[in-house]
Amino acid sequence: MSVRWPARILRRRKSLPQTPRQVVTLHHRSSGKKSIIFTEEGKSIVRNNPGVIRDFLIARKRILQGEDEVKTGHLTLERFKGNGNVHSALYKARVAGKTLFIKEQREGFQGESFRGYLDLAEPQIKSLHDARTKLQSIPGVEVANYHLAWTSGNNSFLVTDFYKGEKIEWNSNENYYSQLTGKKIGERVKRVIEILRGNFLDGTVNNFMYIPTRDTIVVFDLRPIV
Ligand SMILES: Nc1ncnc2c1ncn2[C@@H]1O[C@H](COP(=O)(O)OP(=O)(O)O)[C@@H](O)[C@H]1O
Ligand SMILES: [Mg+2]
Repeated sequence: MSVRWPARILRRRKSLPQTPRQVVTLHHRSSGKKSIIFTEEGKSIVRNNPGVIRDFLIARKRILQGEDEVKTGHLTLERFKGNGNVHSALYKARVAGKTLFIKEQREGFQGESFRGYLDLAEPQIKSLHDARTKLQSIPGVEVANYHLAWTSGNNSFLVTDFYKGEKIEWNSNENYYSQLTGKKIGERVKRVIEILRGNFLDGTVNNFMYIPTRDTIVVFDLRPIV
């Protein structure tokens, strides 16, 4: 399905949106084979919706058995059919007026290319956290707002805000443009790639999206260099 964006959105903005300069801290708790990293916002989502992680695990099981959408407790969960790595299961969740993106990866079930020290949720949330600081100075660029990364046994879940954006394409001259609106965003994309290069793995346009309504590039999937 293709979307036609109104002309006013395609027009160049006078000034690009600045990333809010709020201080975000990552907290870490672990016991036995369970470990969780969360922000204050992630903590309040879990606190304000008691049992939401259990609800998620119940809904996830039903989704993996083939249901399209499951409502349970505080949560509505859908399978998200994005084109991620074949090794991830992706979900869209709605809870207390928020729409969240959840990526699940499973160590031991993902074939030889899976590298737990890079691919599990913890190294990824830490990468997003570091990248946020590094990218803060570029207007019109933000890192997906991350909330939680938890690992329980072999399963690992990364929770961020859900963004509805467009794929970014590039042509042979490295002129990056948004797939649906055609807007050229090359200079900005190149600055982002330049900053990420040498600091993170996977800092390519496959892991960025463009949101035309806010003229913003969102970076959502990074891994540390080890
Ligand atoms: N926060 C998000 N909101 C909405 N869609 C997302 C979000 N993060 C990722 N996606 C979509 O899911 C796909 C897979 O996500 P990604 O984090 O890149 O997983 P993988 O580790 O499998 O590459 C992306 O290509 C994108 O289309
Ligand atoms: Mg990716």
